[in-house]
Amino acid sequence: MAYRLTMVGTGYLGATTSACMAELGFEVLSLDVDAEKISRLQAGDLPIYEPGLEEILRRNLANGRLRFTTSYEEAAAFGDVHFLCLGTPQKPGEYAADVSYLESAIESLAPYLNRECLIVGKSTVPVGTAQHLADKLARLAPIGSGAELAWNPEFLREGFAVKDTLHPDRIVLGVASDRAEKIMREVYASMLEAGTPMVITDYPTAELVKVAANAFLATKISFINAMAEVCEAAHADVKQLSLALSFDDRIGGKFLNPGLGFGGGCLPKDIRAFMARAGELGADQALTFLREVDAINMRRRARMVDLARELAGGSFQGCTVTVLGAAFKPNSDDIRDSPALDVAVKISQQGGQVTVYDPVAQENARRAHPELSYGASALEAAQGAHVVLLLTEWQEFIDLDPEQLGAAVATRKIVDGRNALDSETWRAAGWHYRALGRP
Ligand code: UDX
Repeated sequence: MAYRLTMVGTGYLGATTSACMAELGFEVLSLDVDAEKISRLQAGDLPIYEPGLEEILRRNLANGRLRFTTSYEEAAAFGDVHFLCLGTPQKPGEYAADVSYLESAIESLAPYLNRECLIVGKSTVPVGTAQHLADKLARLAPIGSGAELAWNPEFLREGFAVKDTLHPDRIVLGVASDRAEKIMREVYASMLEAGTPMVITDYPTAELVKVAANAFLATKISFINAMAEVCEAAHADVKQLSLALSFDDRIGGKFLNPGLGFGGGCLPKDIRAFMARAGELGADQALTFLREVDAINMRRRARMVDLARELAGGSFQGCTVTVLGAAFKPNSDDIRDSPALDVAVKISQQGGQVTVYDPVAQENARRAHPELSYGASALEAAQGAHVVLLLTEWQEFIDLDPEQLGAAVATRKIVDGRNALDSETWRAAGWHYRALGRP
């Protein structure tokens, strides 16, 4: 049977999953309470920057497999499988995640569920949320046990969201019945046939896999950044250290790039929510190391500001600083908890005249931080700069010609916040080149 799918929530996860599942041949109806977002998506206008996604969206709108709505009643009548793709942001002033969008999605959808269906949670949640939502669903759905819940965490990376959705490296599925497993095996049949490993488990394990994965990745980044701190103290070179470690295939080189550290909508909030939840469960000691992971990460930003100030001659007063990059990572327009913008704002608060340039995240940055100046290109942003900071490693920054940039700036001083440039080339062009964790 060809199941009909709905997506509840059309943010990063929901928009990507909607378009990709339609691309796989499913009929998809996607819902959001934000009518403006829905009309943009229905018009083929993707509100986020994600390579390759807009074409897939438009193709599947044109062939009629993908549609959008704001009506829960319509979604309930349409769908055999309802995916929950809602955000779980950090609560203001707390570490814990806010799961109220998931709660209200279930409260809005369940009363219309008059036919057998499966609800599949994809959001990143505190462990225990799935069981809580399953209980709520059982109380509210007229079809009773005919509406079931499964938990299927998503691991997609921004910038690679299409590939990660169509060709995931694993499928994790928390289920409470064989029926739910059977339905999901059919939904993911093409991926399973392609050999994608699937781990079938219970709700809490499935929920934990996601936060454990993000905690591990954050720990790996903070590990190498802690080594960078030691290298700075010992006049050693963390880039070479990281390279040497990477040849040990038990360690591997991925997520071992030292620099300004992690940001974005997932890693920072997920490790904090994980600590908060472990505390509620009485297992807080198990995760105290994540506090250190978070602290190491935040110290990199402070260190970057210090290094920039040092190059500025001890103070930012009267100093023009160019910040290359505003997105939390390249190939994204996402500025949530962006280390680059954080550094830009701190320098501006300390009296520096900051000009930012980002090839894609510029408008988002301008909206969030109108107090900063923005340049139309890297070269324009660098006009008259006393210090240049490379804070997001976009390829176009890596490809910058040190001579051309050198002609624009007032003084040839650069801090490579992502260890992305070839230091020899820049020094040979007369630049005072500094990087985090290197002599
Ligand atoms: C992450 C997870 O990778 C993904 O599986 C999950 O579903 C959501 O969270 P994402 O937030 O898109 O994805 O970004 P990711 O590519 O993981 O990068 C996170 C941050 O770590 C970025 O700020 C990046 O610049 C930084 N990073 C990454 C490093 O500082 N060093 C590295 O070696 C790798």
